[in-house]
Amino acid sequence: MRVVETGAELREVLLEYAGLAGRRVLVPTMGALHHGHLELVRLAREAAGPGGTVIVSIFVNPIQFDRSADLEAYPRPLESDLEKCLAAGVDVVFLPDRQSMYFPDRSTTVTESLLSSGLCGATRPGHFDGVCTVVLKLFLLSGCHAAVFGEKDFQQLAIIRRMVRDLDVPVEIIECPTVRESDGLAMSSRNVRLTSKQRADAPRIRRVLAAAAGLRDVEEILASARSGIEASPLARIDYLSLVDAETLQPVTRLERPAVLAAAVFYDEVRLIDHVGVAPL
Ligand code: PAJ
Repeated sequence: MRVVETGAELREVLLEYAGLAGRRVLVPTMGALHHGHLELVRLAREAAGPGGTVIVSIFVNPIQFDRSADLEAYPRPLESDLEKCLAAGVDVVFLPDRQSMYFPDRSTTVTESLLSSGLCGATRPGHFDGVCTVVLKLFLLSGCHAAVFGEKDFQQLAIIRRMVRDLDVPVEIIECPTVRESDGLAMSSRNVRLTSKQRADAPRIRRVLAAAAGLRDVEEILASARSGIEASPLARIDYLSLVDAETLQPVTRLERPAVLAAAVFYDEVRLIDHVGVAPL
């Protein structure tokens, strides 16, 4: 496994793999790797084929954080991340630093303006501009044929698919289903920041959303999910929304596939989850 720190080094190392058969597949991450990330790596290995190259990028992207406290508190267990990559059969780990990714006077940003408007985009201004910009840069720096993203961040996935479609980016987007803890909590690098009481309470998010998704009326679904989350004194709703599965705009009737999505704060730790809601 090779570990490289700048775009120039990455290009050089990838030249060594250029003659091999198979595809070059990228898994973009911010590190603090858990089983969810490793499932993305497994799918990347499969998609790359026997002679292909799997690249994992680890970069806590400063321009997608709207709160500096969250950026600073983001876990960075580099050594164990590298061990996990090695054990998972990753070929190249790309570990750029802020200086090598962004010019101090950079003035170009990639903006998706429809799917980004609600949910995490509404409560985290500029977040998806930061995501789109870094993801496009990582695609270009790695020259990947395909890249793997988790369905856990379904708004992010939808926005990246839209960016790729709208800008003719020649990268296949591969989707990985959400990987969960045995009690149903979606795995997240932020889970380690929960106290034991908060950790014990957090599976309620998934439970409450899944129960509400079985109801057949939009108002009832939202009311049931809201009261289920608010029943916990530890949880504070950031948003709770029922949106069209394709446009991510709020729905008032269940005529097409929809998604019930929530972001919930446990103190400073913000967790997200969602469930699909079938049309009537
Ligand atoms: P990060 O939160 O590290 O997630 C990296 C990838 O892992 C994302 O595609 C995310 O959806 C996926 N992932 C995280 N938890 C998962 C789980 N429990 N099951 C399945 N997939 C999971 O998302 C980002 O980083 C950043 O925004 C990034 C795309 C790297 C751009 O900076």
